[in-house]
Amino acid sequence: MTYSKILGTGSYLPEKILTNADLEKIVDTTDEWIVQRTGIKQRHIAAPEENAAILADYAARQALDAAGLKPSDIDMIIVATTTPHMVFPSTACLLQERFNISGCPAFDLNATACAGFMYGFSIADQYIRTGSIKHALVIGSEIMSRVVDWTDRSTCVLFGDGAGAVVLGPSNEPGVISTHIHADGKYKDVLYLPLGTNTSPNVETVKMAGNQLFKLAVNILDNLFDETLAASGTEKSAVDWLIPHQANIRIIQAMAKKLDLPLDRVAITLEDQANTSSASIPLALDKAIRDGRIKPGQLLMMEGFGGGLAWGSALVRY
Ligand code: UT7
Repeated sequence: MTYSKILGTGSYLPEKILTNADLEKIVDTTDEWIVQRTGIKQRHIAAPEENAAILADYAARQALDAAGLKPSDIDMIIVATTTPHMVFPSTACLLQERFNISGCPAFDLNATACAGFMYGFSIADQYIRTGSIKHALVIGSEIMSRVVDWTDRSTCVLFGDGAGAVVLGPSNEPGVISTHIHADGKYKDVLYLPLGTNTSPNVETVKMAGNQLFKLAVNILDNLFDETLAASGTEKSAVDWLIPHQANIRIIQAMAKKLDLPLDRVAITLEDQANTSSASIPLALDKAIRDGRIKPGQLLMMEGFGGGLAWGSALVRY
């Protein structure tokens, strides 16, 4: 039986940093409020000439290097993004052109918001398991700074820009033990970005019912962890690392508690990077792998949730 496994990871964060002190000059907020309520201290902001494909390119090249592969080894490109450079061609196709490779499937997942990376990870895993492909690039790339309302303090302080990438490839042993993806459209109004062909005025920025979303996220993730562990009969005590979506430190703390993990066993980038939507999970994973905290053979619980609502997880032996 073929499984998939993580062969390499990579990251890219734009150079410009916007601190909470900088935000105090833009909206009626304080560093103290942002840190206490969210855990965020700063975020990266893409330069005007950067777009989601350029961010994805940097992260993907690092991941390919780490995997010891060339762009021509890739059989599928999936880019999770809610902030594509354009509606079409997909950001994945723009990346494919930058890599100068032709023919392999390349597509964006843009309807799953912050859960997009887990959706892409799950799809790539399925294709590799069935033997249809060997190597997949799964990338989360976001320029959230271009879709937030910079006059709305309840959302603009939360988000940042960046890209994270993972190369998945075949393995005789798991690797990816199981993936789980879900959605529930009845919560469509809790978090949305109504860019598209709708004709309503003043709707081009992220809208969020933060408090309601917070409670939903904690409940949903609680159940998701139970489902993910049960699928392989894994005890939570076997999990070495939590790699969470980075929305709020208080949600992350609640999830660590659910797994009985101390916070130093949680990959946290929120403080420096804020919420980078679908890029947050691969960014956190890459950081903890590169600085040597995550070691080969360790068991990782990855989770993401976001607009839709959509959510997903994976249990992975690194
Ligand atoms: O990635 C997708 C998933 N995203 C999430 O899961 C986000 C989940 N939600 C959250 O992380 C939190 O709900 C927030 C961080 C968004 C908000 O924290 P909260 O503790 O739920 O605050 P709140 O929305 O209940 O607002 C409390 C107060 C309000 O003032 P009043 O009505 O009590 O006078 C807000 O107006 O805080 C005020 N407020 C702010 N004050 C200073 C809201 N934003 C700010 C701000 N600075 N930036």
